[in-house]
Amino acid sequence: MRQRKSAIGFTLLVKGLAMKGKKVLSSWMIEKFFKENFKEKNMKKSLLVILTMMLGLILVGSAIAGLSPTSGITDSYHDLGTTAATYGDTGEQGGQNRICVYCHAPHNTIKLGSPEAVDGMGNPVEYLPLWNHAITDMAAYEMYSNGPLAPTTGDGALNAIMGQPTGVSILCLSCHDGSVATNAYGAPGTSSVGAGDKTMTGRALIGGLNISTGLGDLSNHHPISFDYAAADALDDEINPATTSMGTFGKTINDFLFGGSVECATCHDVHNGTEAVGVRLTYVDDDRSAFCLTCHFK
Ligand code: HEC
Ligand code: HEC
Ligand code: HEC
Ligand code: HEC
Repeated sequence: MRQRKSAIGFTLLVKGLAMKGKKVLSSWMIEKFFKENFKEKNMKKSLLVILTMMLGLILVGSAIAGLSPTSGITDSYHDLGTTAATYGDTGEQGGQNRICVYCHAPHNTIKLGSPEAVDGMGNPVEYLPLWNHAITDMAAYEMYSNGPLAPTTGDGALNAIMGQPTGVSILCLSCHDGSVATNAYGAPGTSSVGAGDKTMTGRALIGGLNISTGLGDLSNHHPISFDYAAADALDDEINPATTSMGTFGKTINDFLFGGSVECATCHDVHNGTEAVGVRLTYVDDDRSAFCLTCHFK
């Protein structure tokens, strides 16, 4: 959203400049200035140059706005108001179809250190941005593994040292692992988080129960909850965290949470339809450009 805002900001700035330009051009004072300082022929030339520059600025403005990676959360996958039949509620929000309420509320949200702020493994949840949704129940997760015959040294080894999912990933898993209902959020007017009755199924189920082990299963998903710099130090084919990621001058660092790669390092939960990338990713994955941001292959 921030990226979108700066694009809009820039467009407004350019529009402002253009409007200022119009005023300047119509102003008799400037006309007088030109008449006094330039011959007729030169003045026409100068006006042409100014107009061309203005047009250029406007074109650049719209090109940057067009690069915006997001069209916002409204009507997106995470607008549960519009997916009410499958994952949201019908009529439980005073008929207002509120978007943010499934995840955030302005008041009486889950408090750091409270009994509700503990995940199924008994660990405290350490990132609660006015969080208004029940936390995952999964008792443990099986983390990513590439098999017993994988290389154990050098670039080919798995250098990402993963603990159990933490922080923001726990928030994502609180819907995506299917252990808690998507509509288990604090009902308006109360401070409690409701039980909910709709759980994630199908392709969007990430980290769901592995029947054979009884664990939440992340074993065949991209590693998460590991220190980026530590993996980078052991793997020459990982780009440094100062590498630029996406547009608007951001680097990989800007997308790490306490130095860690998490679900939200790759995905923008407030993103809209897949205008640019696939599946709400921060970077368009055309020709795998997203993977190549971090992987030097
Ligand atoms: C499906 C869950 C979900 C919904 C719906 C949602 N958010 Fe969030 N929000 C999150 C998560 C997860 C984070 C922390 C991860 C992150 O920032 O990427 C977050 C972080 C934030 C933050 C703090 C970090 C930042 O980006 O500034 C703000 C502010 C925020 N959300 C506002 C909103 C508003 C406003 C809405 C409704 C228009 C909304 N969110 C809807 C899940 C959600
Ligand atoms: C934000 C940076 C980042 C992005 C984006 C990213 N990765 Fe990774 N990926 C990593 C890091 C860091 C590791 C850990 C590397 C290691 O252990 O040496 C990793 C691990 C992996 C592994 C496991 C390697 C092994 O040894 O088993 C594979 C495969 C992989 N990534 C593929 C991808 C693909 C495909 C994409 C695009 C869809 C992608 N990655 C996107 C940073 C990223
Ligand atoms: C309140 C519940 C909830 C939370 C919390 C939540 N999601 Fe989702 N998410 C959904 C629902 C519902 C869908 C739509 C699933 C479907 O269409 O089957 C979805 C869809 C997605 C998709 C697109 C799936 C597709 O089919 O393309 C991605 C990616 C995603 N979520 C990532 C995240 C990440 C990352 C986080 C945490 C930063 C997160 N979600 C937090 C409920 C949630
Ligand atoms: C390294 C980057 C990366 C990380 C970390 C990551 N994802 Fe994804 N995710 C992707 C990409 C890229 C796709 C699109 C894959 C495709 O379209 O084939 C995707 C797809 C998805 C989808 C759509 C389902 C599908 O199979 O296409 C969901 C839902 C999702 N991710 C949720 C999550 C959750 C939840 C986490 C954390 C547990 C997470 N992702 C961590 C990169 C990532």
